[in-house]
Amino acid sequence: MEKDQIHNLKNEAIAQILRTGNKQELERLQIVYLGRKGKINQFLKELARLEREERTDIGKTLNEAKKAIENTLKTAFKRNLGKKEKTEEWFDITLPAPKSQIGHLHLISQAIAEIERIFAAIGFTRVRHPEVEWDWYSFEALNMPQNHPARDDFEAFYVQAPPSKKGQMCLTPHTSSGQIREMLAHQPPIRMINIGRCYRPESDISHAPVFHQFEGLYIDKNVNIGHLKGMLSYFAEEFFGPERKIRLRPYDFRFTEPSFEVDITCDLCQGKGRLSNGQNCRVCKEGWLELGGSGMTHPFVLKSGGVDPKKYSGFAFGWGVERVMMMKAGLNLPDLRLLWSPDLRILNQF
Ligand code: DAH
Repeated sequence: MEKDQIHNLKNEAIAQILRTGNKQELERLQIVYLGRKGKINQFLKELARLEREERTDIGKTLNEAKKAIENTLKTAFKRNLGKKEKTEEWFDITLPAPKSQIGHLHLISQAIAEIERIFAAIGFTRVRHPEVEWDWYSFEALNMPQNHPARDDFEAFYVQAPPSKKGQMCLTPHTSSGQIREMLAHQPPIRMINIGRCYRPESDISHAPVFHQFEGLYIDKNVNIGHLKGMLSYFAEEFFGPERKIRLRPYDFRFTEPSFEVDITCDLCQGKGRLSNGQNCRVCKEGWLELGGSGMTHPFVLKSGGVDPKKYSGFAFGWGVERVMMMKAGLNLPDLRLLWSPDLRILNQF
């Protein structure tokens, strides 16, 4: 073993260490030169075979070489660590940014869009009317004079503002006021679908103080109940599916005469009222579910809207968007007000 060999080994090791900036490579070189079976140890083993004097001399050179390699490695590791921290901060600005999460329309907006589409297909125009409305449009013109008991069903939020000739201002408790506004703005034929927010001072698991209704109005010559029933069947089939049937049940509303409540066959028991296991259906009443109100427009209402009841007749209906939507999806919300929650765990499900 010559001193030169040791110098060469040292130089070779140092050159390789300095050349690399890679931690794994440094670790590999550490093993190759300084490891238990590494090159330095191989020389150390050979040392034993040398004469005493030579052994001390070469041993010294070997020790120096080992130290030099160790020191170079130590600094290289340190430099490499510093570099690593920087590497983590560094990023490739040409990489495409992570995709942002794509949201979707709220469940209620989806239902509104579908209702609008279904009625547009038969020539009904979507309209919007004020959410803050005068008493006259909301009640009086709809044949519900002041102090009439029918008003009890329509408690409203009144706005503290000076009343006008049209009475006090309130937040629309129903979309029916849109009937009057539409008739006053257009002469028949009228085919409107007024979808809007309604407000009533009620809040419990099945009532939210803010909710939506869609109100249809069709006015033309010779409109009769057959038209009403045909159109409601069309909507029910389009919205709920071809298997569903509707029926009209006599009811009382001040703005329609005759008036009906519309029922639809229950999806769960297919309108039988009983499930296949013989038990009564827990969702409906004897196979029918209540959809909402409808009827033939009352002559008083036509007159309020400036339409001659001798020339024209019409029908109207007004239903809850949240209600039909929940019926369609078979949604059994423990609390209707959840629909107004911003909680993504709820919203992401739809
Ligand atoms: N406006 C009524 C309500 O909010 C619903 C209604 C019933 C509307 C019968 C109508 C109708 O147009 O004909 O309860």
